Amino acid sequence: MRVVDLDRDMSDVIPTGMSPDSEFLFARMTEATLHATCADPGRLVLDVASGFGQDSISLARGGARVIGAEPSERMTAMAQLLGGEDLEQGDLAPDWVRGWADALPFEDASFDATFCKGAMDHFDDPEAAIAEMARVTKRDGRVVLAIANFDSLACRVTRAIDEFREDWLGWGPMRGRRGYDTPSDHFTRYELDLMKEQAARYVEIERVQGVSIGWGLPGWATLACLLPRPLVDPILRGLDALARQFPTLADVIVVVGRPRLDRSTSSP
Ligand SMILES: C[S@@+](CC[C@H](N)C(=O)[O-])C[C@H]1O[C@@H](n2cnc3c(N)ncnc32)[C@H](O)[C@@H]1O
Repeated sequence: MRVVDLDRDMSDVIPTGMSPDSEFLFARMTEATLHATCADPGRLVLDVASGFGQDSISLARGGARVIGAEPSERMTAMAQLLGGEDLEQGDLAPDWVRGWADALPFEDASFDATFCKGAMDHFDDPEAAIAEMARVTKRDGRVVLAIANFDSLACRVTRAIDEFREDWLGWGPMRGRRGYDTPSDHFTRYELDLMKEQAARYVEIERVQGVSIGWGLPGWATLACLLPRPLVDPILRGLDALARQFPTLADVIVVVGRPRLDRSTSSP
């Protein structure tokens, strides 16, 4: 039996009142992912697990033809509403399709690019989803996968601090969910090696990009709020540049590649 909330919306995910580090992370994750799709005007792009559709809409505003595939009825309804409001005259509205990532309702090699942002850890069968993305992408097209890294530098340091508190000082565990623990609605705890291993079965990986470092470190969000923006912004950009060099430490990992030629073996 499939245990997935089809009425899901983003009310538990959309941050209200973001700190500069969160703002930066979300914006850079989106920018890196969408840029990697090479969604020039007229190209056909598939947004897998499109949620409330903001990325599909953003690409449509740039002139691409976009389909957002999403199983949740509520999310799809929100996307339709948002799309109506956010598109300008002349923009081609995205098409919204109800569908699971591991059974995409499209012909082989239909899209110039497919992408999946911040969602694979919610899938009960993410490898089948990658296989499907590779199947529906043209041979010279792009498959782009962006996901949170639960073995980031911030996760490692926070875990070490908690172990020190609990094992050495004998203090009780911190209240609330710890940033390095996967949320209850995640099926997979992604880190760089697992991401590359799963992707490489179906995709010729061309590039692995890290985005941002330090998100979730104790005190960092508070400090980023207190410091003046002219100081915080260069620090965030510097950490992001470091993440590009060392994706294993990054808060988010973006994997970009082309469908493998031997993809007949990759069908789910
Ligand atoms: C955290 S949201 C991310 C949405 C969007 N990509 C974004 O960046 O805002 C995760 C999405 O995955 C969808 N989802 C969960 N399981 C799925 C599956 N097996 N196939 C496709 N989508 C799924 C959920 O309905 C939800 O919209």
